Amino acid sequence: MRKTIYLVCSVIVVLFALVSCGRPVSVDSYAIIPQPVEMQVDKGSYVLSASPRCYTGGVGQNDLSVKYIFARLRGWHFNPVLVGTPDGDCLQLLVNEDYDAQLGDEGYTIDITGSGIVIAANSERGLFYGFQTFVQMLPEDIAEERYSRISLPYCHVRDWPQFAWRGSHLDVSRHFFGVSQVKKHLDLMAMYKMNKFHWHLTDDHGWRIEIAKYPLLNDIGSWRVDRDDQPWGEADPAREGEERTNGGYYTKAEIEEIVAYAAERYIDVVPEIDFPGHCCAILEAYPDLACAGDDTTYTVQFGPYWPPRAILCAGNDSVMMFLKDIMDEIIPLFPCNYIHIGGDEAVKDNWKRCPRCTARMKELNLKDYEQLQGWMVVEMENYLKRQGKSIIGWDEILDGGVSADATVMSWRGSEGGIKASRHGNDVIMTPLDYCYFNFYQANADFQPPAMPNSLVTLHKVYSFDPLAGIRTASQRKHILGAQCNLWTEYINTPEMAEYMLLPRLCAMAEVLWSPRERMQWEDFRARIARGRIRLESNDYRVGSGSFQPWATFEKGTGGRMLATLHWEVEGTTVYYHTGDGRWTRYEAPFEVDKGMKINTLSFYNGMLKEKEYEIVVSDQ
Ligand code: ACM
Ligand code: ZN
Repeated sequence: MRKTIYLVCSVIVVLFALVSCGRPVSVDSYAIIPQPVEMQVDKGSYVLSASPRCYTGGVGQNDLSVKYIFARLRGWHFNPVLVGTPDGDCLQLLVNEDYDAQLGDEGYTIDITGSGIVIAANSERGLFYGFQTFVQMLPEDIAEERYSRISLPYCHVRDWPQFAWRGSHLDVSRHFFGVSQVKKHLDLMAMYKMNKFHWHLTDDHGWRIEIAKYPLLNDIGSWRVDRDDQPWGEADPAREGEERTNGGYYTKAEIEEIVAYAAERYIDVVPEIDFPGHCCAILEAYPDLACAGDDTTYTVQFGPYWPPRAILCAGNDSVMMFLKDIMDEIIPLFPCNYIHIGGDEAVKDNWKRCPRCTARMKELNLKDYEQLQGWMVVEMENYLKRQGKSIIGWDEILDGGVSADATVMSWRGSEGGIKASRHGNDVIMTPLDYCYFNFYQANADFQPPAMPNSLVTLHKVYSFDPLAGIRTASQRKHILGAQCNLWTEYINTPEMAEYMLLPRLCAMAEVLWSPRERMQWEDFRARIARGRIRLESNDYRVGSGSFQPWATFEKGTGGRMLATLHWEVEGTTVYYHTGDGRWTRYEAPFEVDKGMKINTLSFYNGMLKEKEYEIVVSDQ
């Protein structure tokens, strides 16, 4: 009897231990995104316990990076125990006493050996990035599962970024996203070592930041009638007296909360106040800021607005005063030294008809209306400079002439950025055909609605080279980096925002962090498959990817060519024929002739995922 009680008790204890402390797990290999500069995995494993001993050196437990790291560990049911000496086995977090120039301010090293884990860097920022890599060494489901012991292969990592500007943009005007979703976006950026959050706060579809001096920007400009149940572009007009229930704005307290949250993740927040165009929300609230003779009744938009004719009057002194007043309220909220002043797609029709704008142009001896926009930009740049801020503008600001200190965000392609770098301006590359994540990521027939006639696949993002077309070292110096942009006309839920961002943001992160010689598509594709599990385990919705195959060709025998088919999603099955209609499952490269057509069909899990698609054989 006693034996039975003992046995039952033992079983209960073991069961309790399993439930409360989890089970042991062994990590087989690492799949880090972005790919580290150097990473060597060695024989042997270190076992991380659920209560790891932790030692910090050159940084204290109350410092930003360590507080973040400990909070994350605790969030995954680790119970870190701080120790005063680094001897024995422990997790060490070190800020180097001697500056390692190759690592710079953002680089780090990780060593996992028999005596523990050491993450070291020149700065807390570097330590933070080292920890992000370490997180990806833990099992993919660490956010959900409780493990008693995690066996980690020995390794040595030495890593630093290729670009300083690793940005992600979010348009909160076309659709408003609340504080918690913005924080989730920042978490995502941090996970992949991105460091600039470009917050598109104003546009024709809503003004999203509290401004005390102009309350109608919020009372009127932040709200519109709700048409989210109708397709963008097919929205019914507003009814007389219809209540405006769609929209919102961030209070100053919320902005401060988000900026602080970003800072804890080493992310700078760059606010965008877009002028002189994209201003329907401003002009509905303050119609006097429109051009003389413009009798349009502006309203906050809730569907496509094209061409975007709304423009602030450049000849009205109140307009510059208004913009400067707004900047006066913006500046104290955002510690980042950049403010984005927009400047894109400002249709000048109203200026051309406006006696005040025309008079201003003549008075300033300007050649055309582009230069009139240039004058506004320089006015604002000088105003902001006096307060220690630099401007960023979309590449249209080049059309009106800019100062050498303005940073140009090249979106209509890379040409604007290449030209600007030649003139000595700093540049952020964000060409739409690689960086616009509001574009479809796969064949539109299989996707929720997005920007019509658009396609930016994961593979396309991965092929993006921010330095393409940059010829000289002095030009190279001006390319700060790049970013992905998420315009939200077609994106009206947080889940959809994530679906469009992911996994493409992972490819962008690797483009910006990893050396090109370390980037290899097939390898990335395998890592992304594991990254997807990690993301989903962290409650992110991840896009399905494209199932459209592509081909590469090399010389075959007898003057023929050898076609190799590729696809984005591991596990895709591709069938093909070359004109005879006999569909064959693709297994290996096959012979073709130049000019021949290859027809393909793609399946995944037995479902058709890409309709018949034609590839023409070329010699490249
Ligand atoms: C833009 O896409 N209008 C910058
Ligand atoms: Zn005017």
